[in-house]
Amino acid sequence: MNVEIKNLIFSYGKVKALDGVSIALPDGAIGLLGPNGAGKSTLIRILLGFLRPDRGEGRVLGYNIRSEQNTIRRYVGYMPEDDCFIPGMDGVTYTSYLGQLSGMPRQEAMKRAHEVLYYVGLEESRYRMLETYSSGMRQRLKLAQSIVHDPKLIFLDEPTSGLDPQGRIEILELIKDISSKKDIQILISSHILSDIEAVCSFVVILDKGRLAAQGEMDKLKEIDYSMFEMKLKGSTDSFIDRLRSLKYKIEEMEDRLLKVYMPPDRNVQEIFQLAFEEKIQIRHFVKSQTKLEDLFAKVVGVD
Ligand SMILES: Nc1ncnc2c1ncn2[C@@H]1O[C@H](COP(=O)(O)OP(=O)(O)O)[C@@H](O)[C@H]1O
Ligand SMILES: [Mg+2]
Repeated sequence: MNVEIKNLIFSYGKVKALDGVSIALPDGAIGLLGPNGAGKSTLIRILLGFLRPDRGEGRVLGYNIRSEQNTIRRYVGYMPEDDCFIPGMDGVTYTSYLGQLSGMPRQEAMKRAHEVLYYVGLEESRYRMLETYSSGMRQRLKLAQSIVHDPKLIFLDEPTSGLDPQGRIEILELIKDISSKKDIQILISSHILSDIEAVCSFVVILDKGRLAAQGEMDKLKEIDYSMFEMKLKGSTDSFIDRLRSLKYKIEEMEDRLLKVYMPPDRNVQEIFQLAFEEKIQIRHFVKSQTKLEDLFAKVVGVD
C-alpha cells in the first residue's frame, strides 16, 4: 500500500504514545487493532500530518508526512474518533464545507455532499441541524465527510464507537461496501477484534505504543492453536511429516528444538503416540503461549 513508516516515536510530554513503530501496509482494508491508549489515534494523526513525530519517517501514498501534509490531506479522507461538528450547520452544508476545505470547488463539493449523504443513508436528514443527530447518524455523517472529496485512502478512527449492536453492523456494512466497491483503501482502527474481522484482510496490532504483531487476518485466527516446544532425539523427518499431515504447524529451530502449533481439534496424547511409533525420544516438552495468544487475550479483554 501506500502507508509506510519507519521507527516513529512520539511523546505527549512525558507520555510516550508511540515508541518506535515501523510498518509497511499492503493494499486493501487494513485493521489497526489495540486496547485503549495503544497509540492508534496518535498514529493516524501523525499520518495525516496533524502531529509531527519526534523521530522517524513516513510516507502516505508516497508523500512525506513531514513535508507534504497538504497533498496527503487532499487524497486521504479522515473520520476522527471525536465529533467535530460546527454548531448551527445542517448535514449537507457541513459535508460540502469539509469538501471545500479539502480543495474542492464550491459547487462540486455541494453536489458530492448530496451524493455521499444519500450513500450513507442520511438523505432525509441532510437539512437537519447536526445537534439533532443521533449517535448513529453522527457516525454516518463522519463517514460521509471522509469520502466527500473522492479520496484514494481513508483513515477511520474507531468508526463503531458509541453505537449499539445494530448500528455497529450497519456502519461496518457501509465500510465494507466502500472498501469493495469504491476502490478506496481503508485503514480502520478499533479496540474490538470483531470490528476488524468484519472488514479487514490484514491487521496491525498496537500495544503500549509498540507494534505487537501484524499479519493476514486468517493467520491471526490461528492463535487458537496451542504451542509446544519440544526437544527430540532420533530421526525426526517422518515424525514431522506425519504431524504436518495432521495440520500441525511446525517450526524447526536450531539444535533439534521444535515449535509445534497444535490445531484446536487435536490432543497432546497424539503427539506422544506418534513419537512412540516413530521411535523418537521427546526430551523436553513445554506448553507455551504464543505471543499472539497473549496479545489477543489482552486486546479482546478490553472493551
Ligand atoms: N492530547 C494528549 N495529551 C497527553 N497524552 C495523550 C494525549 N492524547 C493521547 N495521549 C496518551 O497517549 C497514549 C496513546 O493515546 P491514543 O493515541 O489516543 O491511543 P488509542 O487511540 O489507541 O486509544 C495514551 O497513553 C494516551 O493517554
Ligand atoms: Mg483512539
